[in-house]
Amino acid sequence: MTIRIGDTAPDFTAETTQGTIDFLDWKKDSWAILFSHPKDFTPVCTTELGAVAKLKPEWDKRNVKVIGLSVDPVDSHHLWEKDIEETQGTAVNFPVIADADRKVADLYDLIHPNANDTLTVRSVYVIGPDDKVKLSLTYPASTGRNFDEILRVVDSLQLTAKYSVATPANWTDGDEVIIGGAVTDEAAKEKFPEGWRAEKPYLRWVPQPGK
Ligand code: BEZ
Repeated sequence: MTIRIGDTAPDFTAETTQGTIDFLDWKKDSWAILFSHPKDFTPVCTTELGAVAKLKPEWDKRNVKVIGLSVDPVDSHHLWEKDIEETQGTAVNFPVIADADRKVADLYDLIHPNANDTLTVRSVYVIGPDDKVKLSLTYPASTGRNFDEILRVVDSLQLTAKYSVATPANWTDGDEVIIGGAVTDEAAKEKFPEGWRAEKPYLRWVPQPGK
């Protein structure tokens, strides 16, 4: 199934390393990140799960729940978690879905048969408090993801959900932002009474709101 930005995240019940989870019940009104990896006991995946676990204070700060997935069974996940703790210096502190029957993989289009017809690709779905998909991205098995970039995207999504702004290329928290294209100058005068810096009529800059 193709999942697009703005779609409601498909719900499912699955066995995980922290027990059986009904996804949208578990998520409740938080933000969530569902990320898949190809296989247990593989090197890139080992580093990725360690990296996500180390970022727990950052996810918590942003009210984001994270959940991993691969098509291996839960016993395998538990054994592998010991290796992750030993090699990455951190325990895995989020649930990992054991999707041995590929039910969730099929639901979220995580098997790309022309890449590999049994292993899940490295996909990330960011889901908002309204259960809508806000971002999806997919990497190949050979390339580990940059989870600082995922954090940066969450910062942008949370900021732009609250204020009528958009974030420019390579933006990071605290940088200037752009007044959204749908905001007329008339409306912008109300929303940004301090004014803005216009490089072009459509390229209007303001300091990051709320900072
Ligand atoms: C890895 O995590 O290193 C990996 C997993 C599946 C295929 C290739 C690499």
